[in-house]
This record gives sequence, structure tokens and C-alpha cells, in this order.
Amino acid sequence: MAPYIGTATSRIDGLAKVTGAAKYAADHNVAGLAHGVVVCSTIAKGRITQIDAGAAKAVNGVLTVLTHDNRPAMADNDQAYKDDSAPSGSPFRPLYDDRILFNGQPIALVVAETPEIARFAASLVRVEYDRQEHATDLHGQRDRAVPPPPATDPMEAAFLPPKPRGTPDQALAAAAVRHEAEYYVPIEHHNPMELFASTVIFEGNGRLTIHDKTQGVQNVHKYVCSVFGLQPEDVRVLSPFMGGGFGAGLRPQFQVVLAVLAARALQRSVRVVLTRPQMYGLGYRPAMIQRIAVASNAAGTLEAIIHDAITVTSQYEDFHRQETGWSGLLYKCDHAKYQHRLARLDLATSCDMRGPSAASAVYALESAMDELAVALKLDPIELRLRCYSERDQHEDRPYSSKALRECYRQGAEAFGWDKRNPAPRSMRDGSDLVGWGMATGVWEALQVPITVRIALGGNGHAEVACATSDIGTGTYTIMAQVAADALGLPIENISVKLGDSSLPQSPVEGGSWIAASVSNGIVTTAGAIRDELLRLARRMPNSPLANAAPGEVALSDGRLVSRRDEKRAVSIADALRQGGVDRIEQEKTTNPDHDATRASNTHAAIFAEVKVDEQLGVIRVTRIVSAVAAGRILNPRTAGSQILGGVVWGIGMALHEETLIDHTFGRIMNANIAEYHVPVNADVHDIKVIFVDEPDDSNPLGIKGVGEIGIVGVAAAVANAVHHATGKRVRDLPITLDKVQR
Ligand code: MOS
Repeated sequence: MAPYIGTATSRIDGLAKVTGAAKYAADHNVAGLAHGVVVCSTIAKGRITQIDAGAAKAVNGVLTVLTHDNRPAMADNDQAYKDDSAPSGSPFRPLYDDRILFNGQPIALVVAETPEIARFAASLVRVEYDRQEHATDLHGQRDRAVPPPPATDPMEAAFLPPKPRGTPDQALAAAAVRHEAEYYVPIEHHNPMELFASTVIFEGNGRLTIHDKTQGVQNVHKYVCSVFGLQPEDVRVLSPFMGGGFGAGLRPQFQVVLAVLAARALQRSVRVVLTRPQMYGLGYRPAMIQRIAVASNAAGTLEAIIHDAITVTSQYEDFHRQETGWSGLLYKCDHAKYQHRLARLDLATSCDMRGPSAASAVYALESAMDELAVALKLDPIELRLRCYSERDQHEDRPYSSKALRECYRQGAEAFGWDKRNPAPRSMRDGSDLVGWGMATGVWEALQVPITVRIALGGNGHAEVACATSDIGTGTYTIMAQVAADALGLPIENISVKLGDSSLPQSPVEGGSWIAASVSNGIVTTAGAIRDELLRLARRMPNSPLANAAPGEVALSDGRLVSRRDEKRAVSIADALRQGGVDRIEQEKTTNPDHDATRASNTHAAIFAEVKVDEQLGVIRVTRIVSAVAAGRILNPRTAGSQILGGVVWGIGMALHEETLIDHTFGRIMNANIAEYHVPVNADVHDIKVIFVDEPDDSNPLGIKGVGEIGIVGVAAAVANAVHHATGKRVRDLPITLDKVQR
């Protein structure tokens, strides 16, 4: 039987999705379901002095209007609101008290018999405030930015700037060639297609079944139990399908709190669906002001890297990631230092968004490297090869694997880079200026503890279960592929269960860590299934496997087969019959050995072609080649889609995306998908994804994960291409036509 791992398998959940059989959080209907509509604050900071819900309550069909004044009880301490992805600080508590922390904050929930009645009644709620001065402008607050707080655990420590090395200031001053500039990435919002929603089914006896849009059902489960003081067995959270997460669903969002509050207040089932504008009150990619200095000697090897960043967080939590460390990691350089500061603004807390920290930081680094290459009159690939690092520069340790060189080579060849004329404004297509740019991408390859349960029946069908999520990445499919191979069964015989808090333990799906974690978890558990089958098979009269040890047998074609002699085999059905059971079940936790002696990262080389209308400044990205090294690729089709989506997002980051705030009101102005621009079909042309071969042994299957690497570096490749086309260096994303023409 040919292996499924490595083949371009179609999504096993594809049919359910295209036929509408797949139900999302807002798709669940039960008798007596009530509907909640959120009322949000219209000021950025202050206190609510009065909420007049009289007119709303008078509308026929309105059941209640919940506010901080009349809501059911909820926890009164920060710890209860700390979810698995919470940064340090005091988490936001929806409808907790009269304080306003950001514009767009939920302050009331109108619950009615229909969504239409609730929406109308919500428009009648009158709120009076005691306003306070707010600050929402990063540029205005940059001098007040503060260092991230000291880490209280190893995970937080990993997000602090790495330790400096060498004497970067002296090295910078002494270097033959220097480039120093400031780069800016604005606030961006995730905008997944599916709206955030929670349907809370009130089961009676105080039990709740919660259909929630989330990347972590067990994270939401723990959170809801602690916020409302509920017993774990009385709450079940389900999220088997998700219409995009991108990091917005890592933390429990406020709609789930509001829906549970209403269900408890009314003792009935309640659904809350956010509107698109309300989703701009959730987290966002923090804006980032970056100052980068890179210096080299005349031969084009790096002498110094200095990277300073200021990012945005709220007044109540300090969200940050490893913003500046990517610069010191990627290239060989003896002198490096970093500084990271947080500007606390009157906004919701920022959060993870695809390739968090790297997407922004590597944009600046790879733009600066391009500028350095220009100053050195060196081909940008050549500069990167001269600085190529075979070792993790922070810890001075080898990589488990690093095929970035091959990414540069294969990417350049597929793109036709050798035909590039290095001079800016030298390449044309009619009235368009043509630009070719490239950049490097980098992300981390992580593995987390996870538990997988497999139940195998005598009919040769297996169920594989884990509480992870499939946020659209293809987790169902790769789980089925790995299980089919590990159990020696056709993929049609595998059913996958996920997205249910009652299933075996999984952390949130994020950080590109689930593919490696759950796949190796499946292999571990399948090994236990094999051992159990062997135990039964050996007890058969005249068993052909009587003397076989576990390592000597494999599962193949529905049988347990001796690796030494294929003719010695026992079918699954016969083994189970021997045991007098119709199914066997195993549940195993896989705790990855953390190998501190080696670094594990994914890499990419991105090549972009832009065409810029010389008169109008209109920029089109006409071609992108992304060559990715990410260990073993389980499924070239779903993995290719991950990279493709990341590249499209990178185009958006380069040219379109920007959350705009009216600082007079501290309010987001373009909180919709008409005025918040994302790339649409007309903006996306030829994208080619290449996976280079990268054998890796840091986990049994050699998987690194591809969820985030696709976006990292793309914005820089496009920005560098715009410079090559026009001679104009725009260091302020998005690169809109006015900035090119200015
Ligand atoms: Mo990802 S930004 O960890 O969902």
C-alpha cells in the first residue's frame, strides 16, 4: 500500500464544507434559542454613568438587556480570566464594571426572541459617559513606551529580546558600509471570513454545551469554568469547523462570555454573533515602529545588527512577542543588540496574528538587507549567502536542518532571477516599470505535548480523536493520512474527531505546532495499538507471530505483519476475535523531548515581480515564487494552500492592509471589509510554491509545520521589488500609490 504521508490528498472534510453539512458556531439551532446583540462603547476611555435600556426593553420580543449593573455573577480576580494565551496583566472582563478601556468595548447585550428584534432594540440603548482623555496614536506615544515586563515563566522569557552579543555600537561605527532606517507596520486585523460567534445550549441542570468559534476548545472550556465557577463536567465546548482563525481565536473572545451570561440569566439557550465592525474590537496585529541598523565590511559580511522596536498594547495587558530577535537569528553576525518597548494605548490588547512578530520584524530586516545590498552593489541573494548562518546565532548551536540555501537556489531558478538587471527603473513592460525583489522568511518549528486516542474495530475502521482544532489548515486530513499509514489502513477507514473539549488533551492550534505535535502523537498511539494487537495475536493457537517482539511487526493492509517474514501475519479481525473484543482503544500522551542542543526553524526564499504604472503609480504584484524549507511535507496540497494563503496575506501587508484610527475619538474608522483593504482576486496573479527537500530528525516524522512561514518575508520581497521598479524606497506599509508618487 502506497503511503498517504507526502501525497496531495484532498481534504477529508471538503465535502461537508462545500455541501453545508459542516456546522459552524452560529449554525446550531435549538428550540427556544434566544439571540443576543452586543452594544459597544462609543468612547475610548472613561466610565459609564448611565445606561438607559428602557426603550429597548419595551420592544415586543426583547427578553433582557444585560449590563454591568444587572449581569449574573462572574469571577472577581484576574487569575480566573487568564486563558492559556493571555499575556501578563489584567485580562479584559466583559460587562464587569463601568470602566471603558477602549472604543468598541462591549457594554450591553440585548437579548430577544429573534436577531432582528435584538438588533433593533440594541439601537435604542442610550448610554451616558464620564469621558477621560485617551491616547490611541502610537506615533504620539512612542516616547512613553516602556520595556516589556520581566518574565514570570519560561514561555514569557522566550518572548523577551535575546541577550546581546559582541560590541555592536563599536562594530557599527567602524564598519565600511552602514544602513540605518526606520520602518513602520500599521495595526492590522485578522478578518477571518466566519464571524466570531457562540451558541450556548442550556441543557438544564446547569449544564452548557457551547458551540464557539475558537482555535482552542479546551482553552475556552477552562476559561468559562473559571470565570463562571462551573464544574468541568458541566461544560462542553465544541468547534469542529472554523472559517479562519489566524490567531484571533487563540484567546476566548468576549462573545462567549456574553452568551454564557445571557444563558445563565435567562436559563435558556442563547446565541451571540458579532458583526464585522464589532470584530475590530477583538485583538489585532500590533503596529510596529522599527529602527534597524545593519553594517557590513566591504566584502559583504555582516558586522553589526541593531534592531529596536516599539509595538502597541493596551493599558491593561502587555502583549508582546519575540519582535526583534529574528534579526539576530537569521544571519551570521558577531555583534548584535535589540531593544523592545511597548506603547500602552487606549485600545483592546493586541494579539497574535499569523506569523506574529516575524511578519513585521522580518519585513524591516529584509528591507534593510536589500538596502545594504544596494549600498554594497551586491546582488541581494549574494549578500544573504555571504551572511549565511549554519548555526543559530543566539545560542550558537546547529540547526536540526536548514535548507535555506536550496530555497534561494530553487526559488531563483523558478523565478528567472538571473535575468534581472540590478539597476532600479531599468526593466519595463510598456508603460509599466518592472521590479524584481526578494527576501528571506523564517519561523520556528515547535512541538507541544498532546494526547491522542485511537479506537480500532475488527472491521478495520479506526477513530482518531484529539481536542485540537482544524482552523482551515487541513488538520483533519493530515491526521487521517498519518493514522492511515501508522495503522496500515485505507484512509477511507479513518474517522477523525477534533474540536471538542471532551476529547484527549490538546493546546490551542497555533504557532504552526499542531501538525508535528498531533502527527507524532498519532504515531505514538498507533504504536500502542499495534502492541495491544500483538499481545492478542501471540495468544492465538499456533500463532504465526508467537515469538515476534513489538519492534518486529508492522501494521499493513489491515494485518499485523512480521517485518522479517511477510508471510507471517495475523489480521486485525482475527486478533480481536482472539481477545473476545470488537474494538481496542489506546490513549497516549506524547511529550516531545526538547532538544536544547539544536535549533529548529522553517525558512523561505520569496521572489516577487511588481509592475508599477509609471504615470499613476498603481502597483500590481504579477508574480511570486516562494520556496519553503519546512521539513517533511505531509500533504503538498494542503501545505501548498497554507503557503499560498500566507503569500496572499503578505501581498496585503505590503500593499493594502491598514487599520485606521480617528485619534480624536480613539475609534477605528475602517472597521469593515470595504474600507479595510485586503487583496482580492484581481490583486492576486501568478503564485508558485516550492517545497525544497529538508530531511529532519528532530521528531520521528521530521515535521516542522507550515501554518505561518508562508507570510514571513513576503511584504519585504514586494517592497524590495517596488524599489527596484521605481527607485523609490517606501518604508511605511502599506505601499500605496500616493507614497510611490510622492
Ligand atoms: Mo497563530 S497567529 O499562532 O494562530
